Amino acid sequence: MKIIDHADSTILDTIGRTPLLCVNGLVPEVSDKIKIYAKLECFNPGGSVKDRAAYQMIIDAEESGELTKKKIIIDSTSGNTGIAYAMISAVKGYRAKIIIPHNASIERKKIIAGFGAEIVYSSPFEGSDGAIKLAREIYENDPDTYFMPDQYGNPSNWKAHYLGTGPEIIEHTRGTVTHFIACLGTTGTITGTGKALREYNADIKIYAVEPDDAMHGLEGLKHMDSSIVPAIYDRSFPDKTLYVNTDDAYNMVKRITVCGGLPIGHSCGVIVAIFPDGGDRYLSHEI
Ligand SMILES: Cc1ncc(COP(=O)(O)O)c(C=O)c1O
Repeated sequence: MKIIDHADSTILDTIGRTPLLCVNGLVPEVSDKIKIYAKLECFNPGGSVKDRAAYQMIIDAEESGELTKKKIIIDSTSGNTGIAYAMISAVKGYRAKIIIPHNASIERKKIIAGFGAEIVYSSPFEGSDGAIKLAREIYENDPDTYFMPDQYGNPSNWKAHYLGTGPEIIEHTRGTVTHFIACLGTTGTITGTGKALREYNADIKIYAVEPDDAMHGLEGLKHMDSSIVPAIYDRSFPDKTLYVNTDDAYNMVKRITVCGGLPIGHSCGVIVAIFPDGGDRYLSHEI
């Protein structure tokens, strides 16, 4: 339990230090010699792992002077980073313009709008790459009006996990972690956490998870062979890349939710160390 008590504390001070939960009980087929932990990122105030990256990108830009109160924060997102930007902007008094594919879940759209951010929809047929292109176009037409963090190319994205998620995992497992698994969106989670873990112990294996098909249903995740590869990602970084089928992921989420009472988002539908968000923002989906 963290107690945050200083003169200017805000909800943003609760980002990070999420719980690590042993989930062996949810996967009885796995030998009990192997311990499986899930880092429950839904405990961040904006409900996902993306609070960490968005906050780091904003505070680094404030510090460098790139972001001022005159600028509008603009970026593309599959939803969770948009929620984080909208929440941070509401707390800090910025305006935010969020570019999101039209078919993102209704929950994500309502939460972003609820925080008072403006939403611009990109084509539902072009996924997160369509949102990236539209955000760039709007920014490039009027660069003085906007600050674009560019979560796919901003090293502050992975820095959040290098400074936070990685050290937290080392501390909470008392340094016994041997494998780290995370799915790929912007790749900030795997890159930053992986760097911190490898610096701690070069033998720790880093596994990436991607959808197995370009036409997948896993919101927030990228099938790299058919997508714009994020500038912050080195595809040779993970020890291995695992490919997950959308139906298998949804079935695993259903099983974990029904059996374990642990409602998670569907990108967590494989045994992972990072559970990026919660099921609340997918309730309108049939799973
Ligand atoms: C639900 C969900 N899972 C996983 C990820 C991937 O995280 P990262 O962008 O750090 O690769 C995202 C990113 O947006 C996401 O929204």
